[in-house]
Formats: sequence, structure tokens, C-alpha cells
Amino acid sequence: MEGPRWTMVSVWLVLLLPTVVLGGRIVKEEQRWMAEMRGRSILENGLGRTPPMGWNSWNHFKCSIDEKMIRETANSIVSSGLAALGYKYINLDDCWAESYRDSKGNLVPKASAFPSGIKALADYLHGQGLKLGIYSDAGTKTCSATMPGSLGHEEQDAKTFASWEVDYLKYDNCNNQNVNLKSRYKNMSQALLKTGRSIFFSLCEWGQEDPATWAAGVGNSWRTTGDISDDWNKMTLLADENDKWASYAGPGGWNDPDMLEVGNGGMTTEEYRSHFSIWALAKAPLLIGCDVRSLSNETLAILGNSEVIAVNQDELGVQGRKVKSNDKLEVWAGPLTGGKVAVVLWNRGYSQATITAHWADIGLNPSSAVDVRDLWEHSSFYAEGNLTSTVSSHACKMYVLTPK
Ligand SMILES: *[C@@H]1O[C@H](CO)[C@@H](O)[C@H](O)[C@H]1NC(C)=O
Ligand SMILES: *[C@@H]1O[C@H](CO)[C@@H](O)[C@H](O)[C@H]1NC(C)=O
Ligand SMILES: *[C@@H]1O[C@H](CO)[C@@H](O)[C@H](O)[C@H]1NC(C)=O
Repeated sequence: MEGPRWTMVSVWLVLLLPTVVLGGRIVKEEQRWMAEMRGRSILENGLGRTPPMGWNSWNHFKCSIDEKMIRETANSIVSSGLAALGYKYINLDDCWAESYRDSKGNLVPKASAFPSGIKALADYLHGQGLKLGIYSDAGTKTCSATMPGSLGHEEQDAKTFASWEVDYLKYDNCNNQNVNLKSRYKNMSQALLKTGRSIFFSLCEWGQEDPATWAAGVGNSWRTTGDISDDWNKMTLLADENDKWASYAGPGGWNDPDMLEVGNGGMTTEEYRSHFSIWALAKAPLLIGCDVRSLSNETLAILGNSEVIAVNQDELGVQGRKVKSNDKLEVWAGPLTGGKVAVVLWNRGYSQATITAHWADIGLNPSSAVDVRDLWEHSSFYAEGNLTSTVSSHACKMYVLTPK
């Protein structure tokens, strides 16, 4: 990407040179344009080739976080086998810092909750093969308003995070003083890059300025929606809102419909299975949001389904989307490497129903014969022309189809 882009810039410079000499207005235009071009590739950190996987404190713990709980969480992520399945990022959300900066203007870990400091926590996680994520805000204070935001302190805070060996930054949008949104996020992106450390950059501006259309190259993921909550209606709403931006996602930059609620208790097992299946198919970040120190077998069976995870982590990196919808009976699908296709039959209605995906609906040649793998039943069969299944209310079936 870098080569052609800079060649293009040079060509434009040569073409524009005579005009530039003629007028300052055009010079300004050109500077603006070049800044914009740079803006598209400022975060060249090589991260997020597949969607990030891990855990975040917010959905379950809100502001009640401390280093003991985070260490126990890390231990459980490893001992449950989830780390080995790819859940590597352990991410602190809001409320990890004191309300004040120190005399040099640096953020200070909250002594009552993180007495050993953030670097010690990073060392602990790295020792287990995990990564540490942290949280800040592109405003004067974070959303909880209990800690300072990074607006105007971007470089200083990025340096602090890098010095602690942080691997991921979630960057929120509260108390932003109505400063231009894109420049606030681009500023932190640039600041992270300048540290020389590879830090995954997660934009959390709630889809306010359609980040899918500009954030590739600024961040590795961008929220397309407001916050999730632990209920069916909100979860399905976010799935639909996120779906609109499917064509913008790809390796290095992902649409983010917010973190998982699986295991938090507000939805049925079937609803959580649907939540996880659609997030996986949509190449969303898979960030667990429950208390993994007390995982039920049911929750572990959902979050730990390696076949569903493999769809999310498929190297092709194409976001699956809703391809057919008929009175709350939906077909979602997307291509995978090797000509395979992932399919979800999703019943969003109130009673059991039969859902059919015809090959033409999901990008397969109508005459193809395919091997079908049922990712929740862990069984295989053969099909021609269509895939039909009876699906319970709020449940889904998820398959990978391999043309023979
Ligand atoms: C970017 O942040 C720095 C502080 O880290 C500040 O001096 C500068 O004005 C900011 N630029 C923009 C465009 O917001
Ligand atoms: C959970 O699974 C484990 C291992 O398969 C089993 O020993 C245990 O009894 C199960 N617990 C419950 C509550 O079903
Ligand atoms: C699905 O395909 C089978 C043959 O494999 C056919 O018998 C059936 O009618 C088709 N169902 C629909 C709804 O098209």
C-alpha cells in the first residue's frame, strides 16, 4: 500500500508544482490533501490481521476492578483453555486510574486498586502468554468521570502506556469538548505509532461519525454502535446496525458492535449462542464480558467453540452479512478461505420455524454439492441446492459449507 500511495503523492506534487507557485490557496489545499492521505495510513502497526480476542472488564464489573481480580481472570482464561483458543487480550476498561495526574502530568494507577502498578500487571500477563489492554478517552475525563482523559495529553499518555508495555488501547469519546472527532482519534493514533511499540488501537466513538468510512489505518477496530446491554433486543439491534458497514471491514481494521455479554445472565443459552455466532460471522472482536472465574459449562461451551472461533479468525477476513430476511427468519453468510462459506440460519421470531438458505442466496453455484459442517452439533452431512433446518425461537444454526 505504502509504495503506490507515495508514488501517487509524488506525481501529484510534480503536476501541482506550477500551480502551487501561483497561489497560496492551492498550497493549502495540497497540504490538507496530503495530511488526509497520511491520515489514512497513520497506524501501521501490523496488528489485527484477524479480529482481536480476549476479555474486558466493563460489561460485568463496570468500575469495580482491581489487580487481584484481573490476575484471577487471567489465571482462569488460561486454565479454562480459552487462552489456547485465542483469547489473549486482558483489557482494563474505565476506572483504573486516580482522578488526578502526577506533578509531571502523568496518569497514575489507582493505588487502592492497582497498588503494584500497571507495568507489574503487564509483566504478569506477558508471563502467561497473554497481553494487556488499557483504556482512555479522547476527552478531558473518561465516561465514568473518575479519571482524566487523554485529550491534549495524547503523546504523553501513549508514552506512558508504551513504557508499561501495554498492548491494546480502547479509546472512548466522553467529555470531548466538541473538538473535531477525527482529529482527536487521529492524534492518538499518531501518538501510539510514535512510541515505537505495537499497540492495538480500538476506536470507541460509538459510530458517531461513521468510522467505518475513515478509520481503516487510524485504528484496528472501530465501534459502529452505542453500548451493548445484556438483553436480546439490544443485542439484535447492534447486530443490524453493525451489518450496514460490512463492506468496510478487513484484515487490520474491523467493525465493532461492542463486547460480548455471553455468560452475564440476561439472555437465554440459545440467545447467547446466537449472539456469539453472529459476532463470529461478522468478524467482530471477540471480547468476553463475563466473570470467567466462575464460568458455567454452558458458557464455556459457547465461548470455547473452536469451530465458531475458526470462522471469526479465518484469514480471508470478509465480514459475513445478512443476506436474506423474511418475517424475522434470517440467513446470514460470508465467504471463507478455500471457497468455503459460513452460514447462520437465525430465527428472531417468537416460535419455532423452518429456515432455508438456497445456494444462490449465499454465493454458491446452484448446482454445487457441498459438505456441510454443523458448528454447534459438531456433525457433518451432505447437501445439494439448499440448506434447510428447523430452528427454535431466538436460536440459530451455524454451518460451514465446503463445495466438493
Ligand atoms: C494532538 O495532541 C497534542 C498533545 O499531545 C497537541 O499538542 C496537539 O494540538 C493535538 N493536535 C490536534 C490536531 O488535535
Ligand atoms: C461441567 O463439566 C465438567 C467436565 O466435563 C463436569 O465434571 C462437571 O460436572 C460439569 N458441571 C456441571 C455443573 O454440569
Ligand atoms: C432443498 O433441496 C432438496 C434437494 O436436496 C429439495 O428436495 C427441497 O425441495 C429443497 N427445498 C427448498 C425449500 O427449496
